[in-house]
Amino acid sequence: MSKVLILNGSPRKKGNTIFLIQELSRIIIQNGHEVEILNLNDYDIKPCQGCLWCYKDFPLRCIQNDVMNGLYPSVLDSDVIVFASPIYWFNYSAQLKLFIDRLIALHVQGGHSLNGHKFASIFVYGDSNAKGSGVHSTIESIDHMIRYFRGENLGVVHGTGGDSLTVPNNAEIMKDLRELAEKICSI
Ligand SMILES: Cc1cc2nc3c(=O)[nH]c(=O)nc-3n(C[C@H](O)[C@H](O)[C@H](O)COP(=O)(O)O)c2cc1C
Repeated sequence: MSKVLILNGSPRKKGNTIFLIQELSRIIIQNGHEVEILNLNDYDIKPCQGCLWCYKDFPLRCIQNDVMNGLYPSVLDSDVIVFASPIYWFNYSAQLKLFIDRLIALHVQGGHSLNGHKFASIFVYGDSNAKGSGVHSTIESIDHMIRYFRGENLGVVHGTGGDSLTVPNNAEIMKDLRELAEKICSI
């Protein structure tokens, strides 16, 4: 049984990102695996201060005693991390960026706790055309991170969402999502 941690960077409770997250979770759970969803907008995550306190003796926590210190165990216990976000200004959302920056605290001597980890991503955007949406540079940024972790990218699902809930009727994105779920379940 795998533990899948899904980081939801969307603030919208009935939007496209959460719809895709719920569908992915449903399939993964149906196949006997565990899913934890962190709705990042619900947490008061402070920005990384760049103090590098976490590099001294590698305590696997942050000197800022906010909610993040309680969320690190979920990251460390997971087998797969899924980044899920709307595209905001040609990148993933600030909610997700705050969380990712704070992963600096999980460095260990000579490496990082997420070295060799498995990752996947889900992105939705308003543009009807992926090229104009900013999703390609967002995927590139995530790829850099996965390479830094010497991790494995299990896949990226992306497509047009918009202000209304449109992804349920987007056959391509729903097919890609099911394929990603199968890949995650097969690890
Ligand atoms: C602040 C903000 C910035 C956005 N920037 C972009 C963008 O750069 N490219 C794009 O294609 N859509 C952009 N959008 C549209 C959202 O990505 C789109 O509506 C998405 O489906 C929202 O996801 P959700 O339904 O999960 O909330 C932006 C929306 C907001 C609110």
